[in-house]
Amino acid sequence: MTELTLEESSEKRELFEKQIQAGEKIEPKDWMPERFRKQLIRMISQHAHSEIVGMLPEGNWITRAPNFRRKKTLLAKVQDEAGHGLYLYCATETLGIDRSELVEQLLTGKAKYSSIFNYPTLSWADIGVIGWLVDGAAIVNQTSLAKTSYGPYSRAMVRICKEENFHKKQGYEIVTGLAKGTPEQRDMVQDSVNRWWWPSLMMFGPSDKDSPNSKELLAWGVKRRSNDELRQRFVNLTVPQAKAAGVTLPDPELRYNEETQDWEFGPINWEEFWQVVSGNGPCNRERMKARQDAHSSGAWVREAAEAYAEKQQRKRAAA
Ligand code: 3HC
Repeated sequence: MTELTLEESSEKRELFEKQIQAGEKIEPKDWMPERFRKQLIRMISQHAHSEIVGMLPEGNWITRAPNFRRKKTLLAKVQDEAGHGLYLYCATETLGIDRSELVEQLLTGKAKYSSIFNYPTLSWADIGVIGWLVDGAAIVNQTSLAKTSYGPYSRAMVRICKEENFHKKQGYEIVTGLAKGTPEQRDMVQDSVNRWWWPSLMMFGPSDKDSPNSKELLAWGVKRRSNDELRQRFVNLTVPQAKAAGVTLPDPELRYNEETQDWEFGPINWEEFWQVVSGNGPCNRERMKARQDAHSSGAWVREAAEAYAEKQQRKRAAA
C-alpha cells in the first residue's frame, strides 16, 4: 500500500465513508482504510476455514450413509462446502493476501474457524440435524452477509446461500423422516437435537455486549445485523420447524413473547463457548490434525502444479 500524504488520505477516507453511507460496494481497486482491509481478511478467511473444516464432521458419515440416495446427497453437500471455502479464499485474496499464508494461519492455530465444527457426529441423525440447524444458522447469517459492503464477499454469499438452502432442506428431510420413524430412530434424532441446539446458537458469536468486532463491522456495513439479532432471527425461524418435525428443543425456558413476536430462550453457556473457541472443545485437536495431515500429504500435488505452471511460463517466455 503506497504511503499517502495526510491530505490525500483524509480525502480518500471521506470518499470511502461516502461510499459506505451510500450503501455502495467497496471493490478491491477502491481505496480502503488498512483496518477495514485487515478486518475483512480476518472475517472472510475465518469463514473460509470454517467451510473447509466443516467438511470433516459430515465427511465422517459418507461411507456409513443408510442408502445410496443419502450417500449421494451427503457427497454433494460436502463437495459444496469445499467450493464455498475456495470462493471465500478467493474473496480474501482480492485483499492482497496469499492463500498459502491464510492456510498457514489456520494450520498454526493463528486463525479461527467456527466453534460448531468442534463437536463430534455420533449418529446418522447428526447429519440431518447439522443440515437443518447448522446450515440453517449459516443461511440466516449469510443471507444478511449477501448485503455486506465488500463486493467480492457479497457476491460469494449470493451463490453460497443458494447451495445452503439445498443443504438445509436435505437435513430437515432426514430429521422429519427419523422423527416419524421407529422409537429407536425417534430417540436418535432427539438425542442429536439435544447435542446440537445450543452449539448452533453459539455460531452467531458472543452476545453483542461482548463482541469486540461488531461495532466497527456494523458501522462499515460489513455486518448488516448484530450477533444477537441474527441469533434471535434463527430461533424465531427454527422453533416452529422443530414443532412441525415433532422434535423438542432442549430449552425449558423457550416461550413466545406476543409483544415482541420473539421466541425468548434460556441462557447460553458462554464458558463452554469460549472453551471451544480457545481450542478446548471435544474435537479441536482431531480437526486440526486432520487438516495438518491433509496439507502435508497433499504437498506433492501443490509442488507438481507449481512445477507445471513454471514450465508453462518458461515456454511462453521462450516463444
Ligand atoms: N466460532 C469461533 N470463533 C468465534 C465464533 C464462533 N462461532 N464467534 C465469534 N468468534 C470469535 C471471533 O472470530 C472473534 O475472534 P477474533 O477477533 O480473534 O477473530 C471473537 O470470537 C469475538 O467475536 P466477535 O463477535 O467480535 O467477532 P465477529 O464480529 O467477527 O463475529 C461471526 C463473529 C458472527 C462468526 C462473524 O465473524 C461472521 O459472521 N462471520 C462470517 C460467517 C461465518 O464465519 N460463519 C461460520 C460458519 S461457516 C458455516 O456455517 C458453513 C456452513 O456451510 C455450515
